[in-house]
Amino acid sequence: MTSARIIGTGSFLPERILTNQQLEQMVETTDLWIRERTGIRQRHIAAPEETTCDLAEQAARRAMSAAGKGPEEIDLIIVATTTPDQVFPSTACLLQSRLDIHGCAAFDIQAVCTGFIYALGVANSFIRSGAARCALVIGAETLSRIVDWSDRQTCVLFGDGAGAVVLEAAETPGIISTHLHADGDYESLLRVPVGISKGYHKLQQEQAFIEMKGNEVFKMAVTTLGRIVDETLEANQMKKTDIDWLIPHQANIRIINATAKKLRMAMDRVVVTVDTHGNTSAASVPLALDVAVRDGRIRRGDTLLLEAFGGGFTWGSVLVKY
Ligand code: COA
Repeated sequence: MTSARIIGTGSFLPERILTNQQLEQMVETTDLWIRERTGIRQRHIAAPEETTCDLAEQAARRAMSAAGKGPEEIDLIIVATTTPDQVFPSTACLLQSRLDIHGCAAFDIQAVCTGFIYALGVANSFIRSGAARCALVIGAETLSRIVDWSDRQTCVLFGDGAGAVVLEAAETPGIISTHLHADGDYESLLRVPVGISKGYHKLQQEQAFIEMKGNEVFKMAVTTLGRIVDETLEANQMKKTDIDWLIPHQANIRIINATAKKLRMAMDRVVVTVDTHGNTSAASVPLALDVAVRDGRIRRGDTLLLEAFGGGFTWGSVLVKY
């Protein structure tokens, strides 16, 4: 049976780094508090003129180069983002033009921090059904644009970046299973409460910010991610020890620790980038994947568990034979 194999990864981070020490000058916080509560030391922030599509383009080019694929071979583009460049065209269409790819389906997916997991799930279905053979799947964000930089409860958490993979139809195992979920009842815990249809244009730009009840989100994330680990293993009749690498959404080191504990997995089998990237929403999982592929930790044949939790609430996992 045809499966979707990851044949190349890439990522890109904006040049500017914002450290915890710099945040101490902006809001009432300390480097110690941020490190102890979140594990974050620094995050990257896009330059004023740098957009989500700019970051996505660099990550996509690197993934295509690693995969050895040219524009003519890509027949599906999916961009997961909560921070698109403009209302339309979609960031995927803007990217398609920049990459000189023409005619294939290209669209955005909005599932906040779970966006890349959703995008992988959709691309996997396209490939398994024969609707696509070679898909470019990207998670890219300029989350800094919807952060209230005077709110210490949220501004210390987020960063910008992009990660990408190229998936190709293969007769050998690739994506083994995908598990996508949402429950729309939790909007009040995590949201940006304005948008186009609600009259964004009538508002001051300063009102379009992330609002979060951090502590409640934290508890939901820990229990929900624990459940998704069980669901993924049970669906594939696998044991915890069958997983070689956990590649979690990078929101908070304490959430990551809890999921690793659930898997009884030593932290040296968990890819952690939250310390240097912060929470880059849809970009966090593909960024972490690319880091561990390029530094040689993840090898061909390894079994990877990718998971994420985010606004919506949305959550999900992807089990991959790399
Ligand atoms: N610096 C210093 N103190 C801060 C602070 C900061 N940046 N942010 C909050 N605090 C204070 C709070 O005001 C509170 O003070 P109080 O006890 O006097 O009221 C105290 O620290 C504890 O706040 P609390 O919110 O209970 O902390 P926490 O341990 O839950 O950590 C988060 C806060 C946001 C780091 C944590 O809840 C979290 O990571 N939540 C999930 C976030 C997430 O994953 N969001 C996206 C989903 S993808």
